[in-house]
Amino acid sequence: MSSFIASINEKMAEAERDLASASDSASLEEIRIKYLGRNGFFSRAADDLKLVPKEEKPDAGRSFNTARKKFQELFDSALESLKGGSKSPSSGERPDLTLPGRKRKFGAKHPISRVIEDCAAIFRRLGFIVADGPEIETVFHNFDALNTPLHHPSRDPQDTFYLPDGRLLRTQTSPVQIRVMQKQSPPVRIVAPGRCFRRDTPDATHSLNFHQIEGLYVDAGVSMADLKSTLLFFARELVGPDADVRLRPHFFPFTEPSVEYDFSCIMCRGKGCRICKNSGWLEISGAGMVNPAVLANVGYDPEEYSGFAFGMGIERIAMIRYAINDIRILYENDLRFLEQF
Ligand code: PHE
Repeated sequence: MSSFIASINEKMAEAERDLASASDSASLEEIRIKYLGRNGFFSRAADDLKLVPKEEKPDAGRSFNTARKKFQELFDSALESLKGGSKSPSSGERPDLTLPGRKRKFGAKHPISRVIEDCAAIFRRLGFIVADGPEIETVFHNFDALNTPLHHPSRDPQDTFYLPDGRLLRTQTSPVQIRVMQKQSPPVRIVAPGRCFRRDTPDATHSLNFHQIEGLYVDAGVSMADLKSTLLFFARELVGPDADVRLRPHFFPFTEPSVEYDFSCIMCRGKGCRICKNSGWLEISGAGMVNPAVLANVGYDPEEYSGFAFGMGIERIAMIRYAINDIRILYENDLRFLEQF
């Protein structure tokens, strides 16, 4: 094949690509100029044709004419389909308007978010408002102001993530208690949901990051009975009217007296099963009466005010509620899991 014919064929392939990608009349006009314009491809090719050796001329001339004609046809049909509004349906082929629409998949809230929102909604009905605090905390807010002694094991770098500047990733939502009380005087009635971090080894029930919801109520004459009735109301709203709550003595530096509290097992209703390890109770988290030392740390008069505080593990509640047996699945973004919610 002569080099003239080869260059024509090459150019035609390019022209087809150009026309296929033209999406508006402006780009089509550019293509017209590129190929049919005075200095366009075909006019230059006509000049070249004159230089083709005599014996090759008939073939060369024929392919020149064929290419030109073909280009014109392709160009016209590109123009036509652009005028028709859309490039795709060729004439006679109409979209079938009776076909069902394409279904769009809706996302859903993550189970952790759902539990947080449901818990906050229950407490809101008791007059609690939602407060917030930073995930990067000072040692003061996370430990000192919460009356945590210097030798307390939770301060150990083996348990807490410290940043080079001396701050830390909060190990609990309790520092929000301090931040709120520093800003306002009693009465205080807040819940503070959020992410916490501990240097745990991940396993089925431990994760480096997890969520808590903190509660704090400080006013004149707040008692342990208020704490228990609040937790009981919460448990019944969350899992049903026959839920029960039990308090067990415990120790936290920022509450005195302190308790751990359990909800009656929602699986067996207290009879004993695999989920509650046959005890009939599910451990939720810690609570207690705000330590007077903490009140004094934020400038409240402990003689005038008292309060209770509690913390709950969100993952713990989610795992009980949705019968999840491994905490890690909550963070893996596996759609086969998440699509069930
Ligand atoms: N902050 C405690 C924890 O993470 C829970 C707690 C909160 C206990 C409030 C008492 C009062 O274990």
